[in-house]
Amino acid sequence: MAKLINGKEISQQIKDELKEKVSALKAQGKNICLAVIQVGNDPASSVYVGNKKKACAYIGIESRAFELPEETTEEELLSIIKDLNEDDGVHGILVQLPVPKHINEEKIINAISPKKDVDGFHPESVGSLCIGRPGFVSCTPAGIIQLLKRSEIDIEGKHCVVIGRSNIVGKPMALLMLRENATVTICHSRTKNLKEICKEADILIVAIGKPKMIDASYVKDGATVIDVGIHRDANNKLCGDVDFASVEPVAGAITPVPGGVGPMTIAMLMNNCVEAAEREE
Ligand code: GUN
Repeated sequence: MAKLINGKEISQQIKDELKEKVSALKAQGKNICLAVIQVGNDPASSVYVGNKKKACAYIGIESRAFELPEETTEEELLSIIKDLNEDDGVHGILVQLPVPKHINEEKIINAISPKKDVDGFHPESVGSLCIGRPGFVSCTPAGIIQLLKRSEIDIEGKHCVVIGRSNIVGKPMALLMLRENATVTICHSRTKNLKEICKEADILIVAIGKPKMIDASYVKDGATVIDVGIHRDANNKLCGDVDFASVEPVAGAITPVPGGVGPMTIAMLMNNCVEAAEREE
């Protein structure tokens, strides 16, 4: 039986550590503020934004919400970002993605000051990660590193296979594992012999976007399996990219869905907000 990596518990631990830090900063007269911008009212985005605001309230970070109508122009959004970049009272700026189609997402990401880029999506943040300079790291991969470290899973010298090459998860994940001295292989939809490569992994990180695709036949005995996916199955139950029932008996450690990677993303966003305020010193 695999050890269950409990993201709910670990994220709570991180949020409690941050809460203490924030309260110490407050005692020195420093209030931390995150600006959260949502354009339009996509229901999934509204849930994510609501959860981010809730986490801020728990930790003691002020959240400044911008709920903008669907028709907001790119110029209007860029102008709000410019004001927030210049506002010393704001430490982090987050534009919930996706933005409506008439707004160029890349332009918006590029407009956020790298000093306030708590999502870690700005090219300067990504470049800094790539060459090992300090900067903000995308929250989901940063959360996975915390899950591994806090579950005492060794990374150094291990073969880590990442399935997925998105800018938000796969690529930064691979760079972070490399920074931790893993030997890293990146696989994706065009990879040949995916199963054979996955079978070599000591740590298998799955961000493929296909419900329950990875079963026990992809997993080496005793491997650590991290599941980034979140879907609803035929019975409307939440599931990941990994077929948990199949993999759990062969894995050494595994994240559940829900309660694995998901809760870590917001915890790391909160961590980045606190870092943004601390770096200002
Ligand atoms: N949409 C889905 N995930 C994210 C995220 O991590 N940050 C932002 N800004 N938008 C998202």
